[in-house]
Amino acid sequence: MAEKEQAIEKLEQIKSTALAALVEVSREEDLEAWRVAHLGRSSAVMGVFSSMGKMDKDLRPLMGKAANEVRQALESALEEKQGVLAEQALKKALATEQLDVTLPGRPVTRGRLHPLTQVLGRITRIFGDMGFQVYRSPEVETDDYNFTYLNMPPYHPARDMWDTFYTKTDGVLLRTHTSPGQIHVMREHAPEPIRAILPGATMRYEQLSARSEIEFAQVEVLVVGEKVTFAEMKGTLEDFAKRLFGEDARLRLRASHFPFTEPSAEMDVGCFVCGGTGCPVCKETGWLEILGCGMVHPVVLEYGGYDPEVYSGFAAGMGIDRSTLMRYRIDDIRHFRNNDIRFLKQF
Ligand code: DAH
Repeated sequence: MAEKEQAIEKLEQIKSTALAALVEVSREEDLEAWRVAHLGRSSAVMGVFSSMGKMDKDLRPLMGKAANEVRQALESALEEKQGVLAEQALKKALATEQLDVTLPGRPVTRGRLHPLTQVLGRITRIFGDMGFQVYRSPEVETDDYNFTYLNMPPYHPARDMWDTFYTKTDGVLLRTHTSPGQIHVMREHAPEPIRAILPGATMRYEQLSARSEIEFAQVEVLVVGEKVTFAEMKGTLEDFAKRLFGEDARLRLRASHFPFTEPSAEMDVGCFVCGGTGCPVCKETGWLEILGCGMVHPVVLEYGGYDPEVYSGFAAGMGIDRSTLMRYRIDDIRHFRNNDIRFLKQF
């Protein structure tokens, strides 16, 4: 019996020593050391467990239970202490680390539209005012749409006007201009009248330089109906160009050739840089070419599903990169697509 009481007393002592030590702990980071000392493998309670083999057989269950109770008591005391210390730490942080809500916030940088998107937006608005609708057509095209339906059959030398990216799939290429969209719109709407613009990316296999990129943006214009005339084309395009470049812009229409229009023309605007006297930007001509245009060729109308005996139409195509370049006097076309914020921020 004396052995039992002695053992119980020892356990009680272990417990009170440990609890007293815990009271002394005042920082969260010291709790672990306490746990190792009082609940770890070489702690006193654990020592009681391992010495149990030497005890009297009858005593063992009793002592086991008592030792377990002490261990559990210490564990819950530790847990409680952890809670108390954590709360104290939080209170302290709240009291000392004050949030200064009067500090100005970090500025949020505002995005803006890319210069090409801005110009495209202006072009779209002008044509929108005139009752044109905006269409999208594929950037990956077939040989037929890019060439054949535009009156350039296979092996026709006019195809050489466009340096083309062909894909590994036979007859599939990256469109070299937005003109194939004309066929898509016509096939979708024949025989209804059409007034549409088709903006989008076009790709040409070209050497990169300050003046050319492999990707650039074009806007195609298409009008089809009964008795559409060249005079209407001239009026529409001049009105458009004056709204885009300013009422006093000087314009001229010059004869040209495209396989998909007959007759064909190009429109020039007086050079913004020299005002017409001649400079390197306009190659000393005083004029800058802004678009190609013409009356839709009968073969193209037919491919689009319109009877050329009844319907006529006009079309135009303009590259917006180069005119944006000239408008803002940008020295290198490659700035548009290399995403340098310092460049883009200026517009
Ligand atoms: N597709 C031509 C090009 O990229 C531009 C063009 C010229 C489009 C005359 C037209 C047009 O619609 O009528 O060079």
